[in-house]
Amino acid sequence: MNGVGFGVIGAGTWGELHARVYADTPGVCLAGVCDLNRERAQQVSRSLRDAPVYTDYRDLLADERIQAVSIVLPDFLHREAAVEAARQGKHILIEKPLATTEEDARAILAAAAEANVTLMVDFHNRWSPLFQSLRQAIEIGELGEAQMITYRLNDTLYVPTKMLSWSARSSVAWFLASHCLDTLLWLQGAREGADAIERLYCVAKKGLLARQYGVDTPDYYLTTLEWRSGLTIFLENAWILPDSSPSIFDLKCQYIGTKGAFLIDGSHHGAAQRLTQTLSYPDALVAPTIHGRPSGFAAESIRHFARCVIEGRKPIVDGLDGLAVTRLILKMEESARTKMPVAVGSLYHD
Ligand SMILES: NC(=O)c1ccc[n+]([C@@H]2O[C@H](COP(=O)([O-])OP(=O)(O)OC[C@H]3O[C@@H](n4cnc5c(N)ncnc54)[C@H](O)[C@@H]3O)[C@@H](O)[C@H]2O)c1
Repeated sequence: MNGVGFGVIGAGTWGELHARVYADTPGVCLAGVCDLNRERAQQVSRSLRDAPVYTDYRDLLADERIQAVSIVLPDFLHREAAVEAARQGKHILIEKPLATTEEDARAILAAAAEANVTLMVDFHNRWSPLFQSLRQAIEIGELGEAQMITYRLNDTLYVPTKMLSWSARSSVAWFLASHCLDTLLWLQGAREGADAIERLYCVAKKGLLARQYGVDTPDYYLTTLEWRSGLTIFLENAWILPDSSPSIFDLKCQYIGTKGAFLIDGSHHGAAQRLTQTLSYPDALVAPTIHGRPSGFAAESIRHFARCVIEGRKPIVDGLDGLAVTRLILKMEESARTKMPVAVGSLYHD
């Protein structure tokens, strides 16, 4: 085997990207692909130099040549595989959200700490050129103090009704707001300050998805986050955009500070436009394929993890960042359930 062995657990839509990145990263050997669905694992492996295929992740984890794994299972299934991977001494890249309960998140962090393995959560917006530009503008102070941020990240109906077989056991909050919340916490340096967010209020509504598509999960979450600094953020996450939308997701972010503003259009920016029977915007940023190689910022975050493992470095995003986001989404759910604002308090400490 040439290079450090990496495995992928969960070879669905996103697991395939992890496998392609490992197969394409110098110094890395894709040494195992696992999926309950053997055909799917074989399909992914076949195009990537026939890495060994498993249907039980414990068998993959037993391979001593594998030093690191990506866990790309449905949102609510991360804990068991992550804890087992840590017990087997494997470094772990886990898809967002880290976990959908506080107990699961803490169990994963504890297992990784006990085994002294690297744990990274794949919050890849931190590699997005758009959010990097915003972060740099904030850092040099040209926007002044943040006053108001509106951030929307929505998906078309295709995602919860066709792409994800397990959407009813998750929600658009876990699937999309997790990305947004990590981005906001990172942009505002929340981890460095104590108790940055004072309270939040969240409205979530079930309707179209449950009634018309039999998918029992909220259509949307609308969340207001009040920061101690005076900043207010309004966050919109919906799973009910019509399938006629020109791209599968819609991302807009408006940051207004005391000295300037910064506007992001991450989906309908028109950098590439495809005009066939309809108008659509091909992906040019997230995970485009360039000369056969997985590229874009989603590939970049996975490569970052690989390089960290090979070079023995700490990744930019770790388990504590994942725990903070899980805690915030649980607060959103509590507020939506009680129809009351909820105090947020400490996200990074007990
Ligand atoms: N970073 C991103 O932008 C991004 C994008 C999509 C998905 N994700 C995340 O990645 C994860 C997977 O999402 P997806 O879209 O690839 O879902 P998916 O349904 O396409 O893939 C999940 C795969 O896991 C397999 N699986 C389920 N239980 C298993 C088990 N016990 N052992 C082995 N395999 C098992 C399924 O057969 C399926 O192939 C989720 O946490 C999701 O939120 C992240």
